[in-house]
Amino acid sequence: MLGAMLNSELAAQLRLAFDDDRDADTFLMRLDRYGPELVASLRAVYGDRTEDLLDTLIPVLLHAFHTRPADLRRLDEARLLRPDWLQGPDVVGYVAYTDRFAGTLRGVGEHLDYLQGLGVTYLHLMPLLRPRDGENDGGYAVQDYRAVRDDLGTMDDLSALARDLRGRGISLVLDLVLNHVAQEHEWAARARAGDPAYRDYFYLYPDRTQPDAFERTLPEVFPDFAPGNFTWNGDAQAWVWTTFNTYQWDLNWSNPAVFREFVDIILHLANRGVEVFRLDAIAFIWKRLGTDSQNQPEVHWLTRALRACARIVAPAVAFKAEAIVAPADLIHYLGTGDHHGRVSDMAYHNSLMVQIWSSLASRDVRLMTAALRAFPPKPTNTTWGMYVRCHDDIGWAISDADAARVGVNGAGHRHFLSDFYSGEFPGSFARGLVFQYNPQTGDRRISGSGASLAGLEAALDAGNPTWTEHAVRRILLSHAVILGFGGVPLLYMGDELAMLNDYTYADTPEHAADNRWVHRPRMDWPSAGAVQADPSTPAAQVNAGLRHLIEVRKTLPHLHASVESEALDSPDPCVLLLRRDHPAGRFLGVYNFSEHRIQFPSYALRDHVGEFALDHLTGSGFSLYRPTITLDPFRALWLTPTHMTI
Ligand code: GLC
Repeated sequence: MLGAMLNSELAAQLRLAFDDDRDADTFLMRLDRYGPELVASLRAVYGDRTEDLLDTLIPVLLHAFHTRPADLRRLDEARLLRPDWLQGPDVVGYVAYTDRFAGTLRGVGEHLDYLQGLGVTYLHLMPLLRPRDGENDGGYAVQDYRAVRDDLGTMDDLSALARDLRGRGISLVLDLVLNHVAQEHEWAARARAGDPAYRDYFYLYPDRTQPDAFERTLPEVFPDFAPGNFTWNGDAQAWVWTTFNTYQWDLNWSNPAVFREFVDIILHLANRGVEVFRLDAIAFIWKRLGTDSQNQPEVHWLTRALRACARIVAPAVAFKAEAIVAPADLIHYLGTGDHHGRVSDMAYHNSLMVQIWSSLASRDVRLMTAALRAFPPKPTNTTWGMYVRCHDDIGWAISDADAARVGVNGAGHRHFLSDFYSGEFPGSFARGLVFQYNPQTGDRRISGSGASLAGLEAALDAGNPTWTEHAVRRILLSHAVILGFGGVPLLYMGDELAMLNDYTYADTPEHAADNRWVHRPRMDWPSAGAVQADPSTPAAQVNAGLRHLIEVRKTLPHLHASVESEALDSPDPCVLLLRRDHPAGRFLGVYNFSEHRIQFPSYALRDHVGEFALDHLTGSGFSLYRPTITLDPFRALWLTPTHMTI
């Protein structure tokens, strides 16, 4: 049908599905724009099964279009007028678990002043669709995509919250778990009951032949608590592909029915008011024998096809790829070649996060500089999501090649970072926990809250004011880097109050085995309320510093994500220089990653911003005539050229 492109006959036929001519025009214009892309993408994956898929897909699109609420249609129009809405310096993200932040969805609605006061415009509520009972990987084992977790509220509460957020200029972001479902999901239940249509939604193998063949090249995501990638299920009489936990069944995206189901789910949630979908574990959705079954080309075609569907029905919607993969693989999620700018609108900059922690530990930014310089440029209409901490552990994604560029041994450095952040390394300021030790590779990932990893916990335990001050400054420096990088800074709940590790996670049986819960605390509202009364606490200092950084960021057009941050060679290994060449003018971020007071050669700044520079963070001017400028410990400068004599 659509395969022949949007010819006049098809257009006339589709027009019959509309009462309103203007609606028909809108739908057909979007189909004209995105239909060919949709068809080509589906063909690349499904070949001659595409026509049949389209026959069942068009009714899904039409239904979602017809049922899209009026206020969301207005949002669609507004977004079409501002296609760069996720790129501006005004965008600030906040990431929280509904229950840990505010108990319920309604509870979240009671804290909108708080979020707005922080400057938040993007709220990612961690998985809240109905998960399986008991262990559920923090909600990433979804049992029902059309219902909300019972204790958090209802779908109507979700819509109401989305509406309230929208009224305040805050976009609701939800996870879309598309690599797997909970084994209790209806599809899996039907597969176990022997329904062949649903067995084909999963990867089920009668014996070990295929699983063993795949295992030869598959890595392990949770080697510690879920070794291997396949789980025997007696009811299904099959080895089930389970990349993550044994109760998370991987979906078979080579089945077009799975694609159609997810289009339906995405549009259903979009019509409930979800504006950004975090495409969870997207790298894993296509399997190929003889490979690690990550980052396969089909993943990008599928994302592009999903995006085309979303653009036709709900152009206000954006996609964020959760692909925690090497830079050369990552860039494909924002699009290279023909996919350029046509896949996800946003992706996590995992490497920046890792390098921030690496530089804080080593007090040396040379590896970070080399890694950032080797990073492929992203399409100008896309954006990074930058973060210091998130709900997951930190894996030391530092490539041997980047390490070698600065004469460092990759394996040795990764080993050092695990030692350092688990607190084992002599003199380490960090308090973290080892997550998923893999004896085969020697890999040790790290759990821990931003503040504890940055030294605050150890400093407070030691009652050492200098250490405390350093920890506060480390937290603010890290945030200055992400807020000054260009893209969407994602603040992780609790970090704005320097919340420490929460060791009580071990008391909850479903959490005890997964130490990522150490950095998923309950929001400390008393501390949030006290920051003004007592500005001397570390929480208050971090909070005030962060608010200031956010306010300043919003005034700087230079931070629009359409331009790249370029890491410059720095004459001092402790000082990171990030330059942005925006048409509005040049911006230079200067970041001292050490506890040393540094005399930094002025020429290294003068070469980029001229003789006089304004530091937007303090509002003070610098004359760069002098041979050096003084950089206090962990100091950040956000410089632009100024013509005024100071
Ligand atoms: C993503 C999530 C992680 C989860 C995994 C499986 O990586 O961030 O928390 O365990 O996907 O859904």
